[in-house]
Amino acid sequence: MGLIRLLPRPGGSPPAPAPEREPEHVERVERVPEPVVSEPAPDPPGDEPASPATDAGEISAAAEPTRAATRVIALANQKGGVAKTTTTLNLGVAFREMGYRVLLVDLDPQGNLTMSQGLNPDAIDRSMFDALVHRVPISEVIEQREVDLAVASIDLAGAELALSALIGRERSLEKALAEVRAQYDFILIDTPPSLGLLTINAFVAATGVIVPVQCEYLSLRGLVQLENTLAMVRENLNPHVAVEGIVATMFDGRTLHSREAIEILEENFGDLVYRTRIRKTVRYAEAPVKGSSVLKYDPTGAAAEAYRELAREVAAAKEAQDGAQAREHA
Ligand SMILES: Nc1ncnc2c1ncn2[C@@H]1O[C@H](COP(=O)(O)OP(=O)(O)OP(=O)(O)O)[C@@H](O)[C@H]1O
Ligand SMILES: [Mg+2]
Repeated sequence: MGLIRLLPRPGGSPPAPAPEREPEHVERVERVPEPVVSEPAPDPPGDEPASPATDAGEISAAAEPTRAATRVIALANQKGGVAKTTTTLNLGVAFREMGYRVLLVDLDPQGNLTMSQGLNPDAIDRSMFDALVHRVPISEVIEQREVDLAVASIDLAGAELALSALIGRERSLEKALAEVRAQYDFILIDTPPSLGLLTINAFVAATGVIVPVQCEYLSLRGLVQLENTLAMVRENLNPHVAVEGIVATMFDGRTLHSREAIEILEENFGDLVYRTRIRKTVRYAEAPVKGSSVLKYDPTGAAAEAYRELAREVAAAKEAQDGAQAREHA
């Protein structure tokens, strides 16, 4: 399902246009009760948690079906500071808690994901740059932290230029991941705040895209631009990739502004918007300073629970989509 389904398509009857207005960047604080967020989703699928990636040599029969359907999810939004990295890490750790085998890929030269697991991108010898440009096996740049993490270093900043000279430059990540793909149930890719070659590599490798959107600085135009890039990738490089969900981040239910942002998102993108809201709290900024996810930093807090809820919703939503597709093809 495309993100622009509610926007005009060439040749089609004009559906409701996206509202031009964007929420003002000024908070209007109202004294209203916090809206009730979604109910906790049902228990994780499968009776048995899959074996950890580090035991990948021994895959039980029970893990086999999950293994065949590795989900590679790009976390993308060309707007900066919308919680791509925060969502990649905490969603990944929440999936791990559910028993899934998880690999995170830091595809952002800023190296924030790498840092948020206590590693220094400036002191890393081999990184995703080498995996993408020099075809170093990706297993050699994976560090075991709370979850497995393919690390970034500062030289990833030169990757777009170096890749641009290579044949198959858009498929470099897809090829790199082939080595380890079967060892994981979820591969989550953190992308930079741009729609350049690194993000396109993520779209080509991905089975789906999750778009974190900051409630306060909602840019529908930005989302349309992202979908246009994705449509280009679908047409030329990866026919299966699509936005599988939009996650509202930094939500503050006390402000009309935040609630309006959610309304606009839901008007335009309907079911693509996850029901879980990631609320604004300083916990998300505190945890990476300690080199940990919020699930480890404050395991019983509301911030950790929000990402657990999102993980259940992401897992369940995709299973529902796959089930519907299977019935269509039956
Ligand atoms: N729900 C939240 N509430 C409050 N602060 C948050 C929340 N989520 C993330 N943050 C903080 O906002 C800042 C931006 O988050 P993050 O780095 O995840 O965004 P990003 O989209 O990855 O940014 P970039 O585009 O630069 O890669 C960080 O300091 C992070 O700790
Ligand atoms: Mg980031």
